[in-house]
Amino acid sequence: MALLTVDNMRTHFHTRHGVVRAVDGISFAIEQGGTLGIVGESGSGKSVAMLSLLGLLPMPPARIEGGSAAFAGLDLLACGPAALRGVRGRRIGMVFQDPMTALNPYMRIGAQLMEPLLVHAKCSKTDARARAVAALESVGIQDASSRMQDYPHQFSGGMRQRVMIAMALIAGPELLIADEPTTALDVTVQAQILDVIKRLQAELGMAVVLITHDLGVIAGACDDVAVMYAGRFVESASAADLFRGPRHPYTRALMRSIPSTHDKGEALFTIPGAPPDLGRPIEGCPFAPRCAEVRPGCRTAVPELAEVAPGHRSACLRVQAGDL
Ligand SMILES: Nc1ncnc2c1ncn2[C@@H]1O[C@H](COP(=O)(O)OP(=O)(O)OP(=O)(O)O)[C@@H](O)[C@H]1O
Ligand SMILES: [Mg+2]
Repeated sequence: MALLTVDNMRTHFHTRHGVVRAVDGISFAIEQGGTLGIVGESGSGKSVAMLSLLGLLPMPPARIEGGSAAFAGLDLLACGPAALRGVRGRRIGMVFQDPMTALNPYMRIGAQLMEPLLVHAKCSKTDARARAVAALESVGIQDASSRMQDYPHQFSGGMRQRVMIAMALIAGPELLIADEPTTALDVTVQAQILDVIKRLQAELGMAVVLITHDLGVIAGACDDVAVMYAGRFVESASAADLFRGPRHPYTRALMRSIPSTHDKGEALFTIPGAPPDLGRPIEGCPFAPRCAEVRPGCRTAVPELAEVAPGHRSACLRVQAGDL
């Protein structure tokens, strides 16, 4: 049985200007120890989807409009705040997109790391301290014991990301949700952080949902991939199948815009146009206005994600018809 099964999750924001359909019917499952990458452009709903699962969105304006998320016998979307608090930080760890907003600037790093242990795991202070130092060491922080006294602003951006990972992992979660854990870091630090996550995953046997807007990050790190566009998944497959043969024009366009797949001197491809405004109803395929392969039918019929090869799903009508 899958560790987490999300079925048709929908999260909308009810604002003064109308309803923003940030997440509009996504489904996925992740096995124990597995890694799922979710990739998509800025604003496609990746963070809202993950925050929905953890009950961390402001409600209102956010509202879970439907769907379920089964995790260890609990429906995360329906179980209520008390049950979620028991899961969050303990059985599901989370690395937030912006470490500076997730770390408390007025609290020493050590105290922040020890807090979940003292609250959830009922550790003694001495044990919590020892585990916090070990967690910092495991993510490659030098002089961990003395750095426990520091405040977040005394760490570099890359070190703060590592602290976030240490914090997410300190209680030994079964699932780690990492939202853009390497954005805004230089390439070397990015690779180091992904290595830390992979190493700890192998040691602890936990599952990982890795959110990124960079397909290059997915390639080396994930078993399965879902491509998100305008609040929905437009393609999902094993990473190997997706990179061997993408089955949606949006995914193909994303691949053409990865720098490493280009010869030197060749101009980097960028997808024309912009993603749709999620505050307006979308007719037909949400990618149609930017799609190089668009046909008139694409602008009216709403495509569902459907299997087009074993384990490979696409929400492109032309792919589904065998036409692309
Ligand atoms: N509190 C809010 N009120 C109204 N709309 C919101 C709110 N929070 C997010 N949204 C909208 O939800 C949509 C999805 O946002 P989300 O943060 O999930 O994008 P993302 O895919 O994580 O993007 P990025 O790659 O930039 O992190 C966006 O259109 C955003 O404007
Ligand atoms: Mg985000």
